[in-house]
Amino acid sequence: MIQKEYEILRQTLLAEGIYQMDIKAPEIAQRIRPGQFVNLYSKDASRLLPRPISVHNVYGDELSLIYAVVGKGTEEFSRYNAGEKLRIVGPLGNGFPLEAAENADEVLLVGGGLGIPPMLFTAKQLQEELASVLVTTILGFRSMPWISDAFVPYSRVLCASDDGACGFQGTVVDRIKDYLSSAPAAKRILFACGPIPMMKALQAHQEDWNMEMWFSLEERMGCGYGACYGCPARTVQGLKRVCKDGPVFRGKDVIFS
Ligand code: FES
Repeated sequence: MIQKEYEILRQTLLAEGIYQMDIKAPEIAQRIRPGQFVNLYSKDASRLLPRPISVHNVYGDELSLIYAVVGKGTEEFSRYNAGEKLRIVGPLGNGFPLEAAENADEVLLVGGGLGIPPMLFTAKQLQEELASVLVTTILGFRSMPWISDAFVPYSRVLCASDDGACGFQGTVVDRIKDYLSSAPAAKRILFACGPIPMMKALQAHQEDWNMEMWFSLEERMGCGYGACYGCPARTVQGLKRVCKDGPVFRGKDVIFS
């Protein structure tokens, strides 16, 4: 785990309240795996707790993070300019087990809302490490997609949105059902990140879709590295820490309340 101040290279507004921050962080970029996250620390001493942000992409020495402004900490991050430095700790968490896809014909990467960004790094690494496996990304939006073209070099991309603005009206689960209804039989595995209702709906289909699933859980965090037990996840093996034992858990093990 690296803890260091790193320079912000770019801040880009992607959609209302959603920013992409690119950071030069060579030590973390060399080690981080898809589904892992980093903790960003505020410069304001009154905000001690870090903000966990999953990694959207890695280019050489650069990390690309996408975050939404949801409170004072993320609002502070959105005001930082290129050239400023930020304290970052990472890589944290376990990440997606890409090796579990080795014997699959196809990987379904499912992202909803702010669970979408980490699926890009996952798609890119799958293409690099398991080139023979077909990768299909299914993305869920409220309305117009604010990110989807970035996935095209690495996977087939299917979108769904609440209002149909992307060409399909419904949830990602509806989109997957629609896709599977015409797709040839194949051994598939699913990696997902997104809101709890989305994961819960996916989990309900594990058996009828006959798919191994892995979920990256989002949870409010305290320390972010396993010390405070402030990020509990209920699993069939008991309470786990999302930050340290996860954030990725086997789909059938997670107990959603
Ligand atoms: Fe402290 Fe997870 S946030 S143990």
